[in-house]
Amino acid sequence: FVHSRTQQHLEFLHNAAVAVDEQGKIVSIERDVADVSEAKERLFKQLGWSEAEVDVTEAAEGQFFFPGFVDTHIHAPQYANAGIFGKSSLLDWLETYTFPLEASLSDLPKARRVYSRCVRRTLSHGTTTATYYATLDVAATNLLADLCLSLGQRAFVGRACMDDPEINPEYYRDADADETLRATRQTVDHVRGIDPGFDLVSPILTPRFAPSCTREAMAGLAQLHRETGLPIQTHISENLGEMQLVRRMFPEADSYAAVYDKYGLLTPKTVLAHAVHISDAEASLIAAKGSKISHCPCSNTCLTSGPARVRWMWDKGIDVGLGTDMSGGYSPSILEAARQAALVSRHVAMGIHVPQGDDAAAAEREKERVKLTVEEVLYLATRGGARCVGLQDKIGGFEIGMEWDAQLVSLSQVSDDGGLEEQDDNDGFVDVFGWESWDDRIAKWLYNGDDRNTKRVWVKGRLVHRRN
Ligand code: GUN
Ligand code: FE
Repeated sequence: FVHSRTQQHLEFLHNAAVAVDEQGKIVSIERDVADVSEAKERLFKQLGWSEAEVDVTEAAEGQFFFPGFVDTHIHAPQYANAGIFGKSSLLDWLETYTFPLEASLSDLPKARRVYSRCVRRTLSHGTTTATYYATLDVAATNLLADLCLSLGQRAFVGRACMDDPEINPEYYRDADADETLRATRQTVDHVRGIDPGFDLVSPILTPRFAPSCTREAMAGLAQLHRETGLPIQTHISENLGEMQLVRRMFPEADSYAAVYDKYGLLTPKTVLAHAVHISDAEASLIAAKGSKISHCPCSNTCLTSGPARVRWMWDKGIDVGLGTDMSGGYSPSILEAARQAALVSRHVAMGIHVPQGDDAAAAEREKERVKLTVEEVLYLATRGGARCVGLQDKIGGFEIGMEWDAQLVSLSQVSDDGGLEEQDDNDGFVDVFGWESWDDRIAKWLYNGDDRNTKRVWVKGRLVHRRN
């Protein structure tokens, strides 16, 4: 079992056994067991379970269990556009690619095809929790919630709110703030009907971003948050054109973050996607309000938005998680997002100017410091994401009392003659020769792994994906 102990450290539990009860809760962790029969004996004695009642999954040599990934920002309807963005940047991308696709998913059979595939595909990549944007369409949004529940993915599902006529096209917007709020409540009620305790699936209040929303809609959603305690998600400071628009549309606020704060949306349950260009003062405001940031490195590169500074956000005391932001980003995989977070942090490092003279050494140290390690990006992908969505006591690691949201990862073992068999192909690109340390194996997985390495996925103890 491999999981993040802290932001900087992975913990490796060798020869361990984890017992999960019928509710999907981890009830015991045994260390240093010689084999499965000893593990069973110890667990059964402790828990009073009998052989007939339990299923056993054993990680074979070279395999390991890892916590399921948390995608803190993903657009389910945009799955149909993954990889399609040309040379666009945010505002023209929305107009050209995104709004037409999203509007077309009011066709329910079409929505079912796209959403089913999106949920299955993200599960196959080890995403056990996803924070989704859906569309304006209530029936299709409710269908996404139904699919998450039936396919077994832990999810936050947001009906996208957009009622301002400035940039929302006529064919894809709410008539006014009342409609936004009414439609949002319909989705909240629907989800309450299918999952009364919001145990697996929860609604999330989703003002698309400030330029899409009237002041009334934002204030109304904030009021709904105060009434219900539901989480909130939106976008912030992704793109310079977007920021200009916000300055023009909301002259009453000092900054983009201040717009959300003014209308009550900066809360400890708010997840802000991107935050590429936020100022020092905005980061301090976000930290003071306890709001979280979803770092979306793949998207920020694809749409040429810019490199977000995770180390700096952490310095400010902000909780950060990872988002694929598909299809701003081309990939539905959080492993890919983690890898790109590591790469983008190196671009941030390369952008630090090293002056001649006395300040050179300090700048060189800073260049080193801003780079994210393998351990840090895998923390972002699991526990970091869990903190962003308020589930840090439930998911993100292997601890007694947490729920079994996990993936079984398998790296292909190179045979003595180094041959490439058909079986190896099915195991992906990661070749383990056998002499690598576990730290090195995890680094290989991060940089070369993909869904072929994810053999099984569980959410709350339920097997939700299996790869042959
Ligand atoms: N800002 C407003 N809408 C969107 C969206 O769908 N994707 C991204 N990346 N940014 C947005
Ligand atoms: Fe987004």
